[in-house]
Amino acid sequence: MAPNDQDSVPEGVDLERPNPARIYDWFLGGHNNWAIDREFGAKAVEILPNVRTMARVGREFLGRGVQYLADQGITQFLDLGSGVPTVGNVHEIADSVNPDSRCVYVDNESVAVAHSRVLLEREGDPTRHAVVQADLLDVDQVWEAALDTGVLDPTKPIGLIVVNVLYFFGPDDDPYGVIRNYVDRLRPGSYLLSSHMTDDGVPAEGEEERAAIRDQYARSSSPLFLRSREEFARFFDGLELVEPGIAWTPEWKPDLRPSPASDEFRAHPEASTGLAGLGRKL
Ligand SMILES: C[S@@+](CC[C@H](N)C(=O)[O-])C[C@H]1O[C@@H](n2cnc3c(N)ncnc32)[C@H](O)[C@@H]1O
Repeated sequence: MAPNDQDSVPEGVDLERPNPARIYDWFLGGHNNWAIDREFGAKAVEILPNVRTMARVGREFLGRGVQYLADQGITQFLDLGSGVPTVGNVHEIADSVNPDSRCVYVDNESVAVAHSRVLLEREGDPTRHAVVQADLLDVDQVWEAALDTGVLDPTKPIGLIVVNVLYFFGPDDDPYGVIRNYVDRLRPGSYLLSSHMTDDGVPAEGEEERAAIRDQYARSSSPLFLRSREEFARFFDGLELVEPGIAWTPEWKPDLRPSPASDEFRAHPEASTGLAGLGRKL
């Protein structure tokens, strides 16, 4: 597929500003991005040459997390801030373990939702897969829309996925309250899978470059909010953390699935600037 250009802009796509879903897609090597996103991405690569590998590390964690959950017998997934479909999508990994798995994707970005829809129409099963366009901060709306799809059974455990997303929310968004609200709706045996960007424990070397990237995001539609290890751990309050607990993303169950980008960080996992965790509701 050729990269998108200005002639093929789906309805609702804002080309005035670079968009995190489309930038992330470009970082991962996808084609669902526009010139404004690619310019942003290229500038980020100029500042921090391994930024694309860092994005892949985040995506690989998502794959390992879903693999682990599916191996534990979780068959339902609610993926918040699911992004543009790319390699290793949640429903594909879940289906590879249990062909009867169910997944609802939620994103507020038109391109991510449109492409998820196309992919699911082509390869999905409407009784088991769906996509909802909504702001994940509106828990009532997302929960209602997700259940309205008929895909999820709320009386059974659900794997709630909020991966590579929470750092888009600042204190005014009340991200702790939002996640608590979702977790409260899940039945025991459900899980919360999440990851976060941090500068806690990250070597000072490269900080200038990382700050320049944060400035770049701050000028785009989405500033980034980093959190310390302790602050990230708070999202899992009341849940039982699965081994290895809160870990550097490349070190979270590294051998569950091939993770070539994560392997590049084996010697210095803290340089990934990513923390990951999985909590189980008792
Ligand atoms: C960096 S991407 C991560 C995609 C996917 N979770 C992954 O790990 O590969 C972040 C996604 O969160 C979505 N997002 C950001 N804020 C959101 C919100 N308030 N509601 C729903 N989705 C949101 C963006 O549109 C983007 O697709």
